Amino acid sequence: MKNILVTGGCGFIGANFIRYVLGETDFTGRIINVDKLTYAGNPENLAEIDKQFPERYYFVKADICDPKAMRMVFERFSIDAVCHFAAESHVDRSIVEPDAFIKTNIIGTFNLLELARFFQDKIILFHHISTDEVYGSLGESGYFTEKTPYSPNSPYSASKAASDHLVRSYGKTYDLPVTISNCSNNYGPYQFPEKLIPLTILNALEGKPLPVYGTGLNVRDWLYVADHCKAVWLIMRKGKPGATYNIGGRCEMRNIDVVRIICDMIDELAPKPGNRPRRDLIAFVKDRPGHDQRYAIDFSKLQSELGWVPAESFETGIKKTIKWYLDNKGWIESVISGEYMSWIKRQYEW
Ligand code: NAD
Ligand code: TYD
Repeated sequence: MKNILVTGGCGFIGANFIRYVLGETDFTGRIINVDKLTYAGNPENLAEIDKQFPERYYFVKADICDPKAMRMVFERFSIDAVCHFAAESHVDRSIVEPDAFIKTNIIGTFNLLELARFFQDKIILFHHISTDEVYGSLGESGYFTEKTPYSPNSPYSASKAASDHLVRSYGKTYDLPVTISNCSNNYGPYQFPEKLIPLTILNALEGKPLPVYGTGLNVRDWLYVADHCKAVWLIMRKGKPGATYNIGGRCEMRNIDVVRIICDMIDELAPKPGNRPRRDLIAFVKDRPGHDQRYAIDFSKLQSELGWVPAESFETGIKKTIKWYLDNKGWIESVISGEYMSWIKRQYEW
């Protein structure tokens, strides 16, 4: 791989991935980051990378749904590999405004696949980033494996499931060298504060209510974002063409426990003498419709075939994350303006 097209590189995981590949691996080629810069995309996430690697990092503002713009990117940069992160990624928003999820996640992925097929003589790899949410919801026991049937419950997960099927079909039908990874919930630096962990950190720091949906007993399998990035890079280099890999944290937590841990850690790292404990800010709110009860990933395939295991525990990862938000108040200011605020006001319209 010499010229990797990374889509959605200005978002949370994409930015961490580009920083990792250029800053911490032996990759010597170029990364071309295509991002539409929706409310969730922030080029500031890669400002240092832009300065540090002027010959190896390129940013193009474009919509993956735009065939002409994307064709120019494939041609101009002689793209030989794709790592496809770009998506509408927030379940809550998909419930209120599903259109963009259908366009970007399904039509955008289709458009990229068509271009990869058009330039197939050059393309070594098309890696598609997906989610464990395509498998639906688990009861008290069991794990998602790569063989679990798809059963998506939200417009977000349904759109990701559709994109996974398209990617798989291009592998089977056109022999496109595709790989897919389905990962559990990520957390870490640069995550937009609409998702549970960054929202809780920010609200706790500002003394605002901490919304917990329903009973707070829903379970997610949390993974520190750097571990996800390492897994993706490993799959891109050593994964079997046509294969799917599950990625998870072996870290199941109830939402209420996640929120309590964050409250206690913020009390310790950013004490406000005289203030009440942050746990007092917890507010149980109306549940999200179609709220999946439990996600848990079996990543034994990735472990046995490629030797990957997560390096961070929840304790170490959440501490790093909270410290990052404490040290990057300027970043927070820049992302919580404009569109984000108007969305948050409409959030519980379900
Ligand atoms: P994000 O919302 O933080 O970032 C998405 C990025 O894609 C943004 O920079 C946005 O501007 C860009 N984008 C959106 N629509 C676009 C379009 N039409 N054209 C070009 N760029 C566009 O998302 P994230 O949390 O970084 O997730 C990245 C990928 O990982 C997604 O495919 C998501 O489904 C998947 N994923 C996320 C998680 C998680 O916990 N966040 C877990 C598993 C899988
Ligand atoms: P989220 O971070 O949005 O990820 P996902 O919905 O993709 O799993 O939510 C994680 C869990 O936290 C999910 O069960 C919904 C819940 N949640 C809350 O309880 N309060 C909140 O304010 C948010 C954003 C999520």
